[in-house]
Amino acid sequence: MSEGLFITFEGGEGGGKTSQSLLLAERLRSLGQKVVLTREPGGTELGKYIRKALVGRTDDPPSSRAELFLYAADRAHHVEKVISPALDAGKVVLCDRFTDATLAYQGYGRGIDLGVINTLNELATGGLKPHRTLWFDLDPEIGLRRSLERENGRGTGELRFEEEALDFHLRVRSGYAEICLRNPERCRRVDCRGSVEEVAKKVWLGVSDLFGGEK
Ligand code: TMP
Repeated sequence: MSEGLFITFEGGEGGGKTSQSLLLAERLRSLGQKVVLTREPGGTELGKYIRKALVGRTDDPPSSRAELFLYAADRAHHVEKVISPALDAGKVVLCDRFTDATLAYQGYGRGIDLGVINTLNELATGGLKPHRTLWFDLDPEIGLRRSLERENGRGTGELRFEEEALDFHLRVRSGYAEICLRNPERCRRVDCRGSVEEVAKKVWLGVSDLFGGEK
């Protein structure tokens, strides 16, 4: 029986959700919470291999359906090995991307049937759902620019999605908007414009009720 809190970070490229998840983890730890910070794809050893196949530049990229199954495989393993045990131990799990990313990218972005994705997500997670999802919303043109600049500095070669056409990223954004509209009790939109500190305040506003409304 899950007793912890499960919070997911979602959104297009370059919205700053990874840095914000680190900041939120720090804040929660300072309040005495036990926090596990993780991500998809790549939150396990096996997941790191899968991540390479999914986001690295390659001459033989996975087909849309293969891509869908690779995300599902990464997620099934991650839920079983990392997320569920942490929740069972009463921890707060902050996860950089989860099931909504598959709906937004493979569903709205690539055009795979949403019903099929929901079924596969259900199978991969065993029905586990986040208590709260923060959608980091930013104009994709700005986000992609930020993401490419950051990648040039790091040189990880994780550019497969950044190199998709702008149209793809616009569909992903509309997808997230739709998901949030349909799940108002779970999802909160975070406007990513502004300084890191300003966005961190919005992030806190989006989750503080889960922690007794602490200011
Ligand atoms: P990241 O750079 O935020 O870690 O995510 C890697 C990429 O994987 C990102 O471009 C979004 C994509 N993605 C999907 O297409 N489907 C998914 O289910 C997940 C988790 C990520």
